[in-house]
Amino acid sequence: MSAEDQKRQVGEAAAALVEAGMVVGLGTGSTAAWFVRALAERGLDISGVATSLATADLARSLGMRLVELDDVSAIDLTVDGADEIGPGLSLIKGGGAALLREKLVWEASRRSVAIADGSKVVATLGAFPLPIEVVAFGHKTTSLRICDALAECDLGVAPRLRTRDGAPVRTDGGNLIYDVACGRIEDPAALAAALKSVTGVVDHGLFLDLADLALVAGPGGVTKLEP
Ligand code: A5P
Repeated sequence: MSAEDQKRQVGEAAAALVEAGMVVGLGTGSTAAWFVRALAERGLDISGVATSLATADLARSLGMRLVELDDVSAIDLTVDGADEIGPGLSLIKGGGAALLREKLVWEASRRSVAIADGSKVVATLGAFPLPIEVVAFGHKTTSLRICDALAECDLGVAPRLRTRDGAPVRTDGGNLIYDVACGRIEDPAALAAALKSVTGVVDHGLFLDLADLALVAGPGGVTKLEP
């Protein structure tokens, strides 16, 4: 089964978790897009909270009702992709530069489900470069402070500014993304804390203790992983 078929399969499995009347967090990325399409096909009366402008555009094009995060008291269920799924459902996210809105939506959710093809499950996080969102003002200086934070965690690697077509990638909030090829993240919680302590860092792609369930597709079908 191709990776795309696996993404569709987990998208459909996640859409089956949604019930009428729910407020649903809509993730970002190619796997989450399959979820959004499968959810739209079910035709349930739900309200969606999009985690990016791209997802909002997709959801609107499918006729889904969207509400703002600030207009709901809580989100019943969020479904989103992941770049890596590690032990205890620790995740790396942000490959699509939407990590900040994603984390805001996940943290406001009663239940969050990660969906991915089998290639995303790892024994140790870090092979996928960790995205870090920083404010544009003074970002090179901030990247030096990030180096210090990485060194504190025994990671002697340099952050790389994410660019596309020669220009820095801007997030939906107008910030920049640095990617860090950590290799292995032995202590994700320590790294998360060190990065959050840097002024200028808005947030990072480590999603720890946030996922309640992961649906992972493989040749034998969809497997449920719990923390
Ligand atoms: C978006 O910023 C990301 O967190 C995505 O959810 C993640 O990169 C997974 O994307 P794919 O499903 O496209 O691999």
